[in-house]
Amino acid sequence: MSTDPNSQNIDYRSTFNVARVHNALAREQPERVAESRPVSLWITLGAIAVTALAFTFYGAQRGTGSGDSLNYNKFGSSYQPRPPEALVPETGGAGVSLYALGEKVYKGKGCVACHQPNGQGTPGVYPPLAGSEWVLGSTERLAALVAYGLMGPLTVKGQQYGAAIMPAHAPPILTPKEFAAVLTYIRQGWGNAGSEVSVEEASAYLNRTKGRSAMYTEAELKTIPDDQMLGGAAAAPAADAAPATTPPAPGASN
Ligand code: HEC
Repeated sequence: MSTDPNSQNIDYRSTFNVARVHNALAREQPERVAESRPVSLWITLGAIAVTALAFTFYGAQRGTGSGDSLNYNKFGSSYQPRPPEALVPETGGAGVSLYALGEKVYKGKGCVACHQPNGQGTPGVYPPLAGSEWVLGSTERLAALVAYGLMGPLTVKGQQYGAAIMPAHAPPILTPKEFAAVLTYIRQGWGNAGSEVSVEEASAYLNRTKGRSAMYTEAELKTIPDDQMLGGAAAAPAADAAPATTPPAPGASN
């Protein structure tokens, strides 16, 4: 027990000096308690602001480096994408025969997959084009079935077909020039001796029939006379009569 009244070692049981006891208690440190408090709102907002500024600055400094706005064109700002060229250019190509262009179309736009490179088709499924009466007869009828497609039973060179359909090839699948070229090619390829189908005839036909969506059937095709040629109703008899008398080849093939 201490006798010095100023001693720090206070025996509370024996000390009645209230001031001393309170002073001693007041010197005690508050007990430390573990607690989790949310991060200050200001620190949170500050961090977001700094991040946003950083990205803005980063974005502004990237790009072409010359102060232009951000340019994602990795080929350079003068690069302009070009659509793929038409298989057969609508203009130019002078000196190249429709037949040669038509061969490109036949092989490049899918006919060959079904009718085969030799024009013989696949027995029972895809009819032959070589020697076919549908190819060598009326060009109006031929244009109709190639442009708008064909379905249902069909007789070609005495054989029955109809298990598959002939898809439509009107624009935009073929351009008018490609259309004329491929019709010319199948009328003159593999020993066929049909006349050419001109670009003018093909364009006129496609314009005249534009908007049709129904596929042809054999019955509807047969309503087109076998001697009806493209080139307009008035021009047809004259155009038809002239080749029929001059070259014997088209007549022989029919
Ligand atoms: C997906 C296969 C397929 C493609 C591609 C196709 N055809 Fe056909 N084609 C057929 C079928 C099948 C028929 C017979 C349809 C029927 O029986 O009703 C046919 C019929 C024809 C006929 C009339 C019958 C004959 O043999 O003479 C012609 C002409 C013809 N196609 C030309 C073409 C041309 C030209 C192209 C390309 C522009 C072409 N076809 C693309 C499947 C195809």
